Amino acid sequence: MSRATTHPVFSRVYPHIARAAEKGGAAEHRRSLLAGLQGRAIEVGAGHGLNFAYYPASVSEVLAVEPEPHLRELAQRAAERAPVPVRIADGRAEALPAGDGEFDAVVASLVLCSVPDQDVALREIHRVLRAGGELRFYEHVIAHEPRVARVQRILDATIYPFLAGGCHCARDTGAAIRRAGFEVERHERIAFRPSPRAPAIAHILGVARRA
Ligand SMILES: C[S@@+](CC[C@H](N)C(=O)[O-])C[C@H]1O[C@@H](n2cnc3c(N)ncnc32)[C@H](O)[C@@H]1O
Repeated sequence: MSRATTHPVFSRVYPHIARAAEKGGAAEHRRSLLAGLQGRAIEVGAGHGLNFAYYPASVSEVLAVEPEPHLRELAQRAAERAPVPVRIADGRAEALPAGDGEFDAVVASLVLCSVPDQDVALREIHRVLRAGGELRFYEHVIAHEPRVARVQRILDATIYPFLAGGCHCARDTGAAIRRAGFEVERHERIAFRPSPRAPAIAHILGVARRA
């Protein structure tokens, strides 16, 4: 059992924000995130289960770990409609309910922005993957443009994590994945507008492998 992580407002608002993003292109990103995945997968911070619909039949089982109680309840309902078996568990990225090398794949989508410490979370992700296993990632990241990056850092140091359920907008998640010892095999950088009125936000989508 994880420490309770309750975000009563964010957990009720996020499904609406995410619905708009799905229509704007996130659905395609999720499809691409999971295409060709095989074997047993663990999804870290699964939210309300938006990825479940995109797991291919070659995935034998998904353990979806989500610490926020309301999102976990919604994920349980999404699991019942999923095309592959999905088991929901309480847990946090920094202490996953899984043994060493237990999984063929780890899925992290829009979650490494929210964990308290990326290095700790990525060490744990590395631990539960078998040698040669894949980390599939889809994350928003810090902008290359210095002026935008400066604004993102200010937001992270002030109101943004408070408003967005612990999310940070100025993280260099690609660098953190490499620092954790993964070999990045595929890495696409996308300027994505999650809603028509939102600014384009840099996202990374790709595959990294445990050596
Ligand atoms: C923006 S939502 C993304 C949800 C989902 N992965 C998706 O793609 O829609 C961020 C998620 O990270 C979860 N989260 C926050 N801190 C976490 C942690 N330490 N470990 C695991 N998940 C965490 C939140 O509860 C929330 O479900």
